[in-house]
Amino acid sequence: MKADYFKSKKIVISAGPTYEKLDPVRFIGNYSTGKMGYALATELANLGADVHLVSGPTALSMDHPSVKLYRVESALEMYDICVREFQNADIAIMSAAVADYRPEHYNDIKIKKNEELLTINLVKNPDILATLGKSKKAGQIVVGFALETHNEIENATEKLHRKNADAIVLNSLNDAGAGFKHSTNKITIILQKGRIFEFGLKDKTAVAKDIVTCISENFN
Ligand code: CTP
Repeated sequence: MKADYFKSKKIVISAGPTYEKLDPVRFIGNYSTGKMGYALATELANLGADVHLVSGPTALSMDHPSVKLYRVESALEMYDICVREFQNADIAIMSAAVADYRPEHYNDIKIKKNEELLTINLVKNPDILATLGKSKKAGQIVVGFALETHNEIENATEKLHRKNADAIVLNSLNDAGAGFKHSTNKITIILQKGRIFEFGLKDKTAVAKDIVTCISENFN
């Protein structure tokens, strides 16, 4: 790890799930706990970074003085803050499990069970990682995550290129203890030009250290 690499760098991190509202009492969400993103935020803040943590709904708290926490609910809210804060940031790490789709219509009142078959139309959410990847300026670094079930390296590499990211942190669902319902994770980091780094199963604090070390050693 290069000493002072992260000192005073502005880093935007997305974490947790997003909730896409259907009506006042229901939403579409996922099981992400946010632990990976919060561990990254703490690690980077401890290394002197100015961290902006954009978090979907989680049970976690954050009280590090160098972490500014933005609590959001939907993908659109997360998108707005990430795009705004990335403009003058050095690094973005998108670890959130963003809902790919949201309900086309929000019902102001609770949906009643009048229908035998209820159809809900979903519309695509904007891809935050791809938006940052495509808008990044020289010197800005964009890191994404990928959760794959098959052809992991191939799919994650394709994601790296499609979203114009500098690195993709791959979690495989085939590895026991890895993925977003666990407090441990097993990752592979894929960089441009086919550079690949594999790591063993570790708790998410140790995984966060591996990710930040890899960034500091591979980007100027
Ligand atoms: N991501 C994002 N905004 C979205 C969807 C995903 O920023 N609307 C980011 C996640 O935070 C993560 C990466 O993209 O860094 C994960 O991408 P993923 O959802 O796995 O890839 P997709 O492009 O949706 O491809 P697929 O679901 O088909 O694997």
